[in-house]
Amino acid sequence: MCGIFAASLQQQVANQLLSGLESLEYRGYDSAGMAVLNAAGQLQLVRVAGKVANLRQRLAEQGVHGQLGIAHTRWATHGGATQANAHPHLYQGLAMVHNGIIEQQALLAQAPELAQQPWLSDTDSERLLRWLALGWRQASDKLLYLQQQLASVQGQYSLVLIDQQQPDCLWAARSGSPLVLGRSEQGAYLASDSQALQPWCHERALLDEGAVLQLQGQEWQLRDAQGQQQEPKWQGFSQQQQRVDRNGYAHYMHQEIHQQPEVLASSWQQLMTNGKPRLERLGSGAEQLLKQVKEVQILACGSSHHAALIAKYWYEAHLQLPVRVEIASEYRYRQSVCQADTLLMVISQSGETADTLAALRHARQQGYLASLGICNQAESSLAQEVDYLLLTQAGPEISVASTKALLCQLQALAWLQLAFAYVRQAPNWQHWADQLDALPESISHSLSHEQQIRQWALDLPLLPCCLVLGRGPSYPLAQEAALKLQEICYRPVLAFAGGELKHGPLALLEPGMVVIVLAGEPHLANKMAANIAEVQARGAEVWLLSEGQLPVIANRQLNLAEQDPWLAPLRLLPLVQLLAYHRALSQGELIDQPRNLAKSVTVE
Ligand code: AGP
Repeated sequence: MCGIFAASLQQQVANQLLSGLESLEYRGYDSAGMAVLNAAGQLQLVRVAGKVANLRQRLAEQGVHGQLGIAHTRWATHGGATQANAHPHLYQGLAMVHNGIIEQQALLAQAPELAQQPWLSDTDSERLLRWLALGWRQASDKLLYLQQQLASVQGQYSLVLIDQQQPDCLWAARSGSPLVLGRSEQGAYLASDSQALQPWCHERALLDEGAVLQLQGQEWQLRDAQGQQQEPKWQGFSQQQQRVDRNGYAHYMHQEIHQQPEVLASSWQQLMTNGKPRLERLGSGAEQLLKQVKEVQILACGSSHHAALIAKYWYEAHLQLPVRVEIASEYRYRQSVCQADTLLMVISQSGETADTLAALRHARQQGYLASLGICNQAESSLAQEVDYLLLTQAGPEISVASTKALLCQLQALAWLQLAFAYVRQAPNWQHWADQLDALPESISHSLSHEQQIRQWALDLPLLPCCLVLGRGPSYPLAQEAALKLQEICYRPVLAFAGGELKHGPLALLEPGMVVIVLAGEPHLANKMAANIAEVQARGAEVWLLSEGQLPVIANRQLNLAEQDPWLAPLRLLPLVQLLAYHRALSQGELIDQPRNLAKSVTVE
């Protein structure tokens, strides 16, 4: 998964390409490049391993000139993070940037002559470019040719192509990966998301699935998946798409952790009206839908999956509503059973996670009552494809490690619990509404423990590994804590349900090791106390993050005042976020852009 930025301007293009790439680095940052064409048809290619900053530096040494160019920031899928694998790729006077994954074996089987050629890179993108080049020169209608040639490509892509022999033209296509067209007085642009276009354009239009586009000067020709001429659906930019500043924080992650009380409070205002859940936020007919649901199936990946696991504990205990949760990448490839009146829920911060989208599309064939998405991106593929949408209001989340977006997902899931209860006239909904109302303040209180957590982070030994334990909803919270620590501290951190300890993980314990215990469930306090005793008996230390007292003395303990345990995982979450952040900071890691990862996993 990668970021694409391209432009055809009435001025020099290189600086804008660089800025565009910088705002797309959340999509990948292991290599970057650009190709710029001047009016004489000279193609200038600059590619580097590493971040866009390296590309900027290289361009300062080796300038490029021209008003038309394509640029790319890469997240390696085929081939290492090297200069040779960086985009754009070149072949016979064509240069192309590509986002997505192509089934290259299938491609090469169709054109055995390609398989014999020496390759310049290890990428599927270079194979795709050569496939497109096969009849390119002979094609009189390039757009038609592009569409025909892409019709037999398996995989997903968004791509932009330029041709030395037509230095005023640019071609683009998308299928399965987003691409947005933008325009301004200066010219026309293409980018992987709207946010990258916002500083330069006054309007943008999302390309539809299967669309192909030719841009010649300021003129465009757009065709839909069926080859019919289309007009771009122009829209302005919303407030949320404005560029995000770190406001004095050293890292976006730190800022995003501290934004949580504020975003929860403003989201809450939009979820309620006159003290009641605003059901129309989900779409029309939501009330009837929520009444009809007899079971829920939730699909998601990563942190979004952890949110789903927590909701399962809630809905089954509080609504007696059966919930199945599955990792989207597993669900999409297996035969599953869909009971009557089951609501499909898909959760994704980005709304572009390839496995989650594929799982949603796969599930559509299974006969679910309806699909409901929980998503932070209004323009995402997921937001467009679900029947009902609960848009979270976390605002742009730049750090790869998700913090505020996850907490907003949990708030949304908790709100859905009360919405279910409200339409079913269950008595508890008002009580739950009161608790959610108080949540932003509780999160501020959790954040007030930052200095203590920072000291823990400095002292925490993470080698040879570290364990995190939880029970009940604190078990998925433990999984989230482990994920955060792995993601930005690069250490093996393993999460287990407390009850599983003696089924294997106890063997890992040795003196000096730290086991982080998360405990927010008073009814499980004695059980967790027994687990803590097991750990301490083996000479390992227990560092306890809890809400309410446990009948045990941990080696270290941070105890939040006891409240109704329903939202305890949400109140404990900022503590584990801060622990991971300060640990990574003390190790000197690149916190916002951890190695090998990307914010939005748009490829499988
Ligand atoms: C979270 O810190 C991770 N970066 C990752 O697990 C993420 O939650 C996952 O990739 C799912 O992303 P999504 O919510 O955008 O679908």
